[in-house]
Amino acid sequence: MDDLRDKYISAISGAADEAALEDLRVQAVGKKGEVSLKMRELGKMTPEERQVAGPALNALKDEINSALSAKKAALADAALNERLKTEWLDVSLPARERRVGTIHPVSQVSEEVTAIFADMGFAVAEGPQIESDWYNFDALNIPGHHPARAEMDTFYTHRAEGDNRPPHVLRTHTSPVQIRSMEAQGAPIRVICPGRVYRADYDQTHTPMFHQVEGLAIDTDISMANLKWVLEEFCRAFFEVDGVELRFRASHFPFTEPSAEVDIRCSWEGGTLKLGEGDDWLEILGSGMVHPKVLEAGGIDPAKYQGFAFGMGIDRIAMLKYGIPDLRAFFDSDLRWLRHYGFAALDQPSLQGGLSR
Ligand code: DAH
Repeated sequence: MDDLRDKYISAISGAADEAALEDLRVQAVGKKGEVSLKMRELGKMTPEERQVAGPALNALKDEINSALSAKKAALADAALNERLKTEWLDVSLPARERRVGTIHPVSQVSEEVTAIFADMGFAVAEGPQIESDWYNFDALNIPGHHPARAEMDTFYTHRAEGDNRPPHVLRTHTSPVQIRSMEAQGAPIRVICPGRVYRADYDQTHTPMFHQVEGLAIDTDISMANLKWVLEEFCRAFFEVDGVELRFRASHFPFTEPSAEVDIRCSWEGGTLKLGEGDDWLEILGSGMVHPKVLEAGGIDPAKYQGFAFGMGIDRIAMLKYGIPDLRAFFDSDLRWLRHYGFAALDQPSLQGGLSR
């Protein structure tokens, strides 16, 4: 019996395939197999012999059967592994880059500006691009004869023949949203108003459509100091340059009193613009304390409330921050320009995650 066991167990472990295994099964435990024949001989044995040989033969048969099925499973595993090797696929390969477009610098900068002012408690407000004379001018203390009206290079719409109401205008600045926001919300209020504005002008730094962002903060205890802090805080965050330096220069706007223009320190050395160093100054925005007449036009009592406002060119600060030399290219829809100056579609500017990565 030991000889039989040695013979078949080693033959089974060396079997090359399922057919060889089947042959071995027939030879060992098939109807006429060696183990089966031995079992038939049990009948000729004495009861004592049978008591020893019977269980031993059964055990041998079981052992051979389980060796057969273990080997069968091992052969199947090996075959599967062989097949998997030929069907192997590396799913860890990086995906092929696919262009899904880029974010335009104007959108990017609008998002950056919004993220910074949102962090200081400003909400975003919007107004129409086709605006009435009243909101664009009169309510902002720019009456009909005022030279600022002429300076704005305004696009006027046409009224129908015989309609003598003043024409609507393409808004020349985002300041009318100040009035609309005051009317809608009253005081206190803190909003920024980004959007498109229009002026008849065209050269390297002027296009007939461009973008501004207006800021407005009104409360019972607001001063120039608050304005200065907010703007400095904004510039530090926006330009992402250590030691950005601002200069507040006295100026005049009809809708603010006093008024200040804000310049940023820069250098043009070697023909490239660097912020925060050098002896040049670049104007980036207009600002001031909201004129009492403007508060009144917005339905807010100037005896009780006061506030600051500012207006900034979005395209202009985009050019400064990202070193873009010509404003006109912003609106050419040239794909090469967009790919060069654009931003990844899925990067959202945030103060935590980084404004511009
Ligand atoms: N509206 C002005 C412009 O378009 C910019 C501006 C200046 C806005 C001063 C303001 C301000 O709110 O206070 O040139």
